[in-house]
Amino acid sequence: MKKIKVAIDGPASSGKSTVAKRLAKQFGFIYTDTGAMYRAVTYLALTYHVPFSDEQALVELLHQHPIEFKQTQTEQQVFVDQKNITDAIRQPDVTNNVSEVATHQGVREALVKQQQLIAENGQVIMDGRDIGTAVLPDAQVKIFLVASVTERAQRRYAENQTKGILTDLDTLTKEIQQRDHIDSTREISPLKQAEDAILVDTTGKSIDQVVQIIAEYIQQAL
Ligand code: C5P
Repeated sequence: MKKIKVAIDGPASSGKSTVAKRLAKQFGFIYTDTGAMYRAVTYLALTYHVPFSDEQALVELLHQHPIEFKQTQTEQQVFVDQKNITDAIRQPDVTNNVSEVATHQGVREALVKQQQLIAENGQVIMDGRDIGTAVLPDAQVKIFLVASVTERAQRRYAENQTKGILTDLDTLTKEIQQRDHIDSTREISPLKQAEDAILVDTTGKSIDQVVQIIAEYIQQAL
């Protein structure tokens, strides 16, 4: 079996991580959620009261408090200062500020380096916004996952409910649109489909169906 890299990009709540985790398990690959890294920097900024606009200070923060991952095929746990922040980085105060933090070149350079190291040996499924375009341009399988904003907001609503986070659907829709706007219009590595990526629209499809579609592309690349 070839040691291939799989890149899954797409807007917020398009189902990337759910699908990527399932595929990683099925193929025995390592799963890497790169959004968690940008979220961890945002968490650090909130914890240490660093403004989201201060690139220099954010990069410094990252050097002082390196983000550590414990990865398996189905789980990715995130630690800083030896503290497990896997759940904390999903809270609304992180979610609503992460896109601003992710606009900074210095922050991106540091995290992309870490992502490329993880993927060095292949057998990896990485999800994010710029994996196919910037992090792993040589990935053998590139998927661009999309879904209607209404469906994405509904998915996020259901997910939040299971975590005990209460936000109404209208607010969630606006937050998703706002995040997509910042992510796709930023100067450095904006969210966009790589030229050689396959577009998969998950609107109205079950997780099983999407997993099945992508699994076939991976199978062909092995
Ligand atoms: O995937 P998730 O929604 O957790 O990502 C959180 C945020 O991190 C995104 O909205 C985006 O601003 C940023 N991000 C990024 N590049 C990536 C992954 C995430 O800019 N590769």
